[in-house]
Amino acid sequence: TDTFYQEQHRPQFHFSPEKGWMNDPNGLVYYEGEYHLFYQHYPDSTVWGPMHWGHAISKDLTTWEHLPIALYPDSLGYIFSGSIVVDENNTTGFQTGKEKPLVAIFTLHDMVKEKAGRNDRESQGIAYSLDKGRTWTKYEKNPVLANKGDADFRDPKVFWHEATKHWVMPLAVGQHLEIFTSPNLKDWEKTGEFGNKDGAHGGVWECPDIISLKAEDGVEKWVLIQNIGRGAINGGSGTQYFVGTFHGKTFINDNPPETTLWLDYGADNYAGVTWFNAPNNEKIFIGWMSNWDDYATKVPTSSWRSAMTVPRKLSLIKTSEGYRLAQMPVTQIEKLRLGKTEISKQTISNDTKIGEKSVLKEINLSFDLTTSTANEFGFILSNSLNEKVVLGYDKTTKQVFIDRTNAGKSDFSKLFAKKHLAPLNDDKELTIKALVDNSSIEVFVNGGKIALTDLFFPNEDYTQLSIYSKGGNAELIKGEIYPLKSIWKK
Ligand code: FRU
Repeated sequence: TDTFYQEQHRPQFHFSPEKGWMNDPNGLVYYEGEYHLFYQHYPDSTVWGPMHWGHAISKDLTTWEHLPIALYPDSLGYIFSGSIVVDENNTTGFQTGKEKPLVAIFTLHDMVKEKAGRNDRESQGIAYSLDKGRTWTKYEKNPVLANKGDADFRDPKVFWHEATKHWVMPLAVGQHLEIFTSPNLKDWEKTGEFGNKDGAHGGVWECPDIISLKAEDGVEKWVLIQNIGRGAINGGSGTQYFVGTFHGKTFINDNPPETTLWLDYGADNYAGVTWFNAPNNEKIFIGWMSNWDDYATKVPTSSWRSAMTVPRKLSLIKTSEGYRLAQMPVTQIEKLRLGKTEISKQTISNDTKIGEKSVLKEINLSFDLTTSTANEFGFILSNSLNEKVVLGYDKTTKQVFIDRTNAGKSDFSKLFAKKHLAPLNDDKELTIKALVDNSSIEVFVNGGKIALTDLFFPNEDYTQLSIYSKGGNAELIKGEIYPLKSIWKK
């Protein structure tokens, strides 16, 4: 119908559930030409409740097709976050015909035990599909990994470790990581523990992911993506990561324990992990665009709540401080470009309005930092009500920021109307790629070395875009703006 996905604030090129509540991405797996996206879902309400796994697929990581709910809560509990693997060698014995088993590994969260005040309420279960993820059978001997008394014992993100030929399950346990291995996804043995001292500990650790990446110089590193419920760099939930090594049993950090690295400096990228088995061994990440602290269930949307980030390709880059993660939107998103507005090289000394009025857009701008004299410059998205979101660079503090203090609706939470800052360790150039949907902005700075993701809820769409500078000139090298089309328009 014409009204499909046309509600106010409804994301137009980001994935959001048809109706009801959504949180973490789950079961990210690529199989036979399809990228599967499962997600924490409560279909009966727009706030968190009994957790199901919702399901969607994509062939291009850009347009999505909704499929029926894949997993329902059962007598062992709600179906919390987890992952899916392709059991290529039939280690589980689940295979009966030609199709490889897809095996989901997830946390069972037992509400009966929780209400009885028991700590052994979370365990890990599995389910399998022999028809490309369309239908699922829960394993009759669940759980496959019981709990010895850790109140938080969840979010298995399983991968195959080729060198040692076994399955590996990083699991978030309280404020550290535990690592289990298995020959068959059914029998698990604990082989490692990490993070009792390392990184940030302002909240419970959730949704880990261990991946390997090769830098341009050929060096391979293992990266632990570790989500943290509270105490992230710009408040509340966020994603830290560690760079190190992994030989099959445990994770070893390259950096001193106090080094805390952040995958995103905005407030709204949480519980993100990567696709299993993506083509060309690419590591493609997607996160949930919200924050548990404290507005996830309060943001002013109507029939649905929450959206995902765009899928992002991760890479490993060498910096003066060591190897670090970088990320850029997958290039398939460029298929949504409608036209192009070029902005020529120029000196910006005041607010300069750009004619482009479409709400959905990709903004590419690069500035020369060596010749720019302004204290602050960047761009402003605004509407006729004087509500605005600012993406700026502060030359004095060398910080990139998103300022949403005056972005529209914010009375649903005291923690929403804020400015989020990110340090930028570059003196030559500032290159910005921003993806703007009608209630979110994702910013990738200098090839994705820095990312910021923030939500906003203007009372009227932002149809104005200006480049600004304060206290001097900003030297714009080049600008390209692309209006984007909706993926939901029928
Ligand atoms: C993270 C999280 C996970 C848990 C799920 C429950 O957002 O708290 O740790 O599995 O959400 O919905």
